[in-house]
Amino acid sequence: MKIKKAVFPVAGFGTRFLPATKSTPKEMMPVVDKPLIQYAVEEASKIGVEEFIFITHHAKGSIENHFQENSDLYNMLLNQGKDDLANSVKNIGGPNAKFISVDQGEPKGLGHAIGCAEKYIAEDEFFVVILADDLIYCKERNVLEQMKEQAEKYGKQILALEQIPEEDISKFGVVDPESSEGSISHLKGIVEKPLAEDAPSNLAVVGRYLFNKSIFAHIDNNNAGKNGEIQITDAILSNINDFIGFEFEGDRFDCGSKVGYLKANIALGLANEELSLRLKKYIEEIKDL
Ligand code: G1P
Repeated sequence: MKIKKAVFPVAGFGTRFLPATKSTPKEMMPVVDKPLIQYAVEEASKIGVEEFIFITHHAKGSIENHFQENSDLYNMLLNQGKDDLANSVKNIGGPNAKFISVDQGEPKGLGHAIGCAEKYIAEDEFFVVILADDLIYCKERNVLEQMKEQAEKYGKQILALEQIPEEDISKFGVVDPESSEGSISHLKGIVEKPLAEDAPSNLAVVGRYLFNKSIFAHIDNNNAGKNGEIQITDAILSNINDFIGFEFEGDRFDCGSKVGYLKANIALGLANEELSLRLKKYIEEIKDL
C-alpha cells in the first residue's frame, strides 16, 4: 500500500493555550526544539508521504512559512560550520515534500475540515489524517507505520485507539467493538463524546486516522452532529464495517492541554541524548517541591 498524502486539520483557535496561541497557531508550539506540526510532518514522511495538506484558516501563515526553504538561514549556518543545525532546517518532510494549504473558512468541525481535502485525494487512494496536538512518541516504529501495517493486513481503514480512564472518556469518539483480537477491534459502532455512563467501551479514537477516498462520500456537511459540528465520527459510523480499531504501541501526549504539553517536553527531553542527564538531575533535585 502506498500512502503519499497526509491531511492536517490545523484551523482550531487553540483557546486552551491562550494567550500563547493568540497570534501563533497551537501547532507551532515547540516541544523541546521542534514545533508540534513538524513532529507530525516527519511522522508522515516516515511512511512515504510527500504531499502535506494543511486545512487551515487565514491567520495561520506561520505554519506555511515554517515549511518553506530559507536558504539565507541555511547558508549562514553552513558557513558557521553548524552543519547539524543547517540540516535541521532543510528538507523538512523529505526531498520531494510538497506543502498545500486549504482555507477551511468557518471552522465547522473535524468532519468538515477533513472534507476540505477531498479534491486532493484520488479515487481509491489511501491517506492519513493527523491531529498534531496529539504527539505520539514511539521508541521503535511510529504510530503511522504500525497503522499502515494493519491496513495492509486487513484491507480496511484504521482508527488509532487508546484505553482512556472513565473520567476522560466523554472528550473522545468512543468505539463499540463487536470482537477483539489482541490490539485489533472489529467494530459495530462509534459514538462522539458520550457521557461516561453511556460509553460503549473504554477505547477512544485518538489523533490518527488512516482513510481512503470513500470517507468523503460519508461526510455530510448538511447534517451537524454532536455540539452542532460536522463530526468525522458520524462519517465513520455510516460505513463502520470498513473500519477496524487498532491499539498502537507508543505514548500519546495531549499537547492541547497544559499538563500534556509539559509532560511531552519532559518525556522528549529525557529521550534527547544531549539533554537527558541534566534534565534527570534537575528532576531529582526538585522532586520534593
Ligand atoms: C476529535 C474527534 C474525536 C476524537 C478526538 C481525538 O475531537 O471529534 O472523535 O476522539 O478528536 O483527539 P476534538 O478533540 O477535536 O474535540
